[in-house]
Amino acid sequence: MLAVSTPTPVPEFTQKPSVRTTLMNEHQHMLSKTMRARDSTSIATEMMQLLKDSQFSPYIGEAISQQEHMLQAAYHAKLDGCRNEVVLAALLHDFGHICAEQDAEQMGDPTHGTAHHEFIGATYLRVRGFSEEIISMVAAHVDAKRYLTWKRGQEYYSKLSPASSFTLMCQGGPMNEAEATAFEHDPLFAEKLAIRYCDEKAKIAPHPEHIPTADSYIPLLAAHIDEQRRLRQSQAVVA
Ligand SMILES: [Fe+2]
Repeated sequence: MLAVSTPTPVPEFTQKPSVRTTLMNEHQHMLSKTMRARDSTSIATEMMQLLKDSQFSPYIGEAISQQEHMLQAAYHAKLDGCRNEVVLAALLHDFGHICAEQDAEQMGDPTHGTAHHEFIGATYLRVRGFSEEIISMVAAHVDAKRYLTWKRGQEYYSKLSPASSFTLMCQGGPMNEAEATAFEHDPLFAEKLAIRYCDEKAKIAPHPEHIPTADSYIPLLAAHIDEQRRLRQSQAVVA
């Protein structure tokens, strides 16, 4: 069984500190306070509405929508026997594409999605009180692709869609050996790869009808936010 210890720290929005990052951090801090005052079910409902709204946004290079892709990823995680946190991370892994500001930087052109979407999604989740494990898994889903391209080389790279191989280059290309070794030592390494495998499988068109809907995840999302709030409160009391 995997140790549930401290995951790799997630950068706060982008890897390069800037004036924009500082402003974003202040904005996030205020937003976090607002979120803490809100009912967890209303946060979860709002998130799933955002997911449902992405039904009309095509998933990069595939004949399915962003919503269908994320629902299929969560479905495969559940089917593979992953724990709830991994199912939620799979459900939310591409949230950065759908929650980003309208003027957010794109990878090449708008058809390839938002640059740094993994960190934008991770930040969105941090503001809403998700666990550091889920934040780390969402932030690392691009790194998992970069790792597998290093580990398996041409055999893996040749199976990427044209859009996916293009975005890989925008995302830094295959890992180098030092990055790969650090990634392998991450306590969430196996689960981060598991999410990548679900991401790869989540491209079925047409979208199968039996895949659970966005609304079906509202109770699980709300329960997770509540659990994290209880955990933080008990840690604050101990401190
Ligand atoms: Fe994805």
